[in-house]
Amino acid sequence: MKKKEAFKFEFESYSSIKDLLVEDQGLLNSAVEAATGAYAPYSKFRVGAAVLLSNKTIVRGSNQENAAYPSGLCAERVALFSAAANYPKETMNSLAIYSPDLKSGEEVFSPCGACRQVMSEYEIKQFADIRILIMNSSGGIWLIDRAQSLLPFAFRFPKLK
Ligand code: THU
Repeated sequence: MKKKEAFKFEFESYSSIKDLLVEDQGLLNSAVEAATGAYAPYSKFRVGAAVLLSNKTIVRGSNQENAAYPSGLCAERVALFSAAANYPKETMNSLAIYSPDLKSGEEVFSPCGACRQVMSEYEIKQFADIRILIMNSSGGIWLIDRAQSLLPFAFRFPKLK
């Protein structure tokens, strides 16, 4: 028997940072600040990320590149790994990302596949969703309520018996 299956993806969009909760505004501003720490001499595409933990700590990250290209890491994973390593008992509630290097009007970027995989696994580990906030070049914002929405059928280690 053949069945059609569907995956529904919904997210919110806001036209201005002022439309967000104050806590989310603060987190996005941290992502903006974090981008100043980017080391991106090769791509010239700077990215800032900020993770809000359950104890209200904000952990920042920025992309770090290297002459041996694959050795570099995206801003999201720098922030997520740093949060997990330094605050292993806290829950990651939200992740905000921003790049000052988007060019035209409403240009936007969203996390790469590897970062989606990492976010998804932390959601499973902590039994709680991670909200994703992304600001575009004209200040509009996308709010995605869980990382797993960005990566249907993410790889998980099958339970080995
Ligand atoms: N990059 C990020 O930091 N986050 C993303 O979501 C996409 C890409 C970085 C990786 C690399 O340093 C540069 O942006 C260009 O790909």
